[in-house]
Amino acid sequence: MKKLNVALIGTGFMGKAHSIATAVVPILFGAPIEIERKVIVDIDEELARNAAHQYGFAEYATDWRDVISRPDIDIVDICTPNDTHAPIAIAAAKAGKHVMCEKPMAMTVADAEAMLAAARETGVVTMVSYNYRHTPALQMAKRLIDEGRIGDILTFRGHYLQDWGADPSKPLSWRFNKAQAGSGTLGDIGTHVIDAARLLVGEFASVNAIVKTFIPERPLPAGRFFGPSGAASSEMGKVDVDDAALTMIKFTNGVYGTIEVTRNAWGHHNQLGFEIHGTRGSIAFDYQRLNELRVAFADDPADAFGFRTIYSGPNQPFGDKLWPVAGMGQGYIDIKSIEWYNFLKAIADNTSAAPNFADGLQIERIAEAILASGENGNWVNIEQSAA
Ligand code: NAI
Repeated sequence: MKKLNVALIGTGFMGKAHSIATAVVPILFGAPIEIERKVIVDIDEELARNAAHQYGFAEYATDWRDVISRPDIDIVDICTPNDTHAPIAIAAAKAGKHVMCEKPMAMTVADAEAMLAAARETGVVTMVSYNYRHTPALQMAKRLIDEGRIGDILTFRGHYLQDWGADPSKPLSWRFNKAQAGSGTLGDIGTHVIDAARLLVGEFASVNAIVKTFIPERPLPAGRFFGPSGAASSEMGKVDVDDAALTMIKFTNGVYGTIEVTRNAWGHHNQLGFEIHGTRGSIAFDYQRLNELRVAFADDPADAFGFRTIYSGPNQPFGDKLWPVAGMGQGYIDIKSIEWYNFLKAIADNTSAAPNFADGLQIERIAEAILASGENGNWVNIEQSAA
């Protein structure tokens, strides 16, 4: 069993989540590869030092360039704002390191193409952290679809609704700044639903979207900023990204769909969800009830027909590796740990992980098409990757 050393870049919201996942993945899954949490990096030295201590890394550093080509580093884990993903990932892949990259993969399609090309050059394993797809209930939805239990899919109705952006006094963090984020709600949370739609339904052929910014300026942040929240100053700045996107979809396999994404939906904290309607049944999922998958099968007896709930447990994908009783409760860290297990297993098996940089690139193409349609009002075709 080969021991692989991890360098994690960025100690914020995701830095913490990946630190926990990399610590517990061998406990939960008996990881296929032994990993050591070697170096944690942040541009802020105090954050890096504190994180090394609190999250349990052997060392800390303040410049990713000093770390990623070190011969004793095998995996680079990118947990920094979106504008840094491409330079770090390209340098890491060129140095022969396997790359875990937080989503969205890149700021532009061109950056995503360059990242994929760098990874293909050296043959490293890549993964983009569209973590929600690893949720056992969502994987159960995939199993039911693949087994034909809801017949042929007719329509997909997806959404990702949050409310932290609805308050105009929330400061203008990097998530509201195009130069650092690439896009707004669409890249931040919409790409997760696009990932789920590609996984469960198939490739997007074309999209037609309305894209809107509801709060055009916000107070600039006061001091350092973590995750989606932080303190505000009295000075205002311009928001140059989208707050919401409403998209109609034609899939290449003839399925039709819609996706609604917004960070301005009071009362919806982290509501990623979808319904899929097939010729023989329906499936519904809501991440805020991530232990539950709701299903309705046309073949059920008429007097007992209707939606019923499957509670995640040992009978669903990965459930046997988590807790032995259904309804015990899986959570965000369980899902991040499954994500890491899948990544490490791909490295161990010398195969590709999913979702990888090719998936990330396709999601960037779809996101760019949605933004283009939001500008010109037309249906926009999506370029398909060569097989
Ligand atoms: P954050 O703002 O909480 O933390 C970012 C950290 O990166 C900060 O500590 C900052 O000092 C550090 N940093 C910035 N530039 C750096 C550089 N050049 N080198 C080293 N450190 C640097 O951000 P958060 O929320 O952790 O987001 C990071 C990434 O994770 C983003 O791409 C975001 O879209 C993604 N994300 C993914 C989620 C998921 O569920 N998969 C959820 C939240 C964020």
